[in-house]
Amino acid sequence: MLKEIKSEIYHLLHPKMAFFLTSIAKDGNPNVMACAWATPVSEEPLIIIVCVEKSAYTAELIKETREFVINIPTKNLVKALLICGKTSGRNSDKFKKAGLKYSSGPKMVYFNTA
Ligand SMILES: Cc1cc2nc3c(=O)[nH]c(=O)nc-3n(C[C@H](O)[C@H](O)[C@H](O)COP(=O)(O)O)c2cc1C
Repeated sequence: MLKEIKSEIYHLLHPKMAFFLTSIAKDGNPNVMACAWATPVSEEPLIIIVCVEKSAYTAELIKETREFVINIPTKNLVKALLICGKTSGRNSDKFKKAGLKYSSGPKMVYFNTA
């Protein structure tokens, strides 16, 4: 029964668009994960909520630096997105693994971590 309910919920809420969610370590090394649970909740001020499991390396980095970046993938980046969503950057360089490049950008918002 539990399996049935879980499956129904999954199919009601998915598929969802997924994004690249990039964070950065204090030493300047970036990390990137796939994130489907992201949504804008306010235009003024601009607020975007991302839901990241506590055990993810990304959660650790965001809590540490209070910074993240969201990128919307194009079709040709689907494989890279899956690589970022199936491995942790705790002990590996996912930018290298997925063939992704990064550059620095402007700071836009402050946020709370619950
Ligand atoms: C398509 C897709 C969407 C995902 N969306 C989320 C999400 O919204 N939140 C989350 O915590 N994990 C999500 N994940 C899983 C993380 O990307 C995965 O746990 C990743 O390895 C975490 O990397 P990190 O340890 O380097 O932070 C998703 C995975 C995939 C493939």
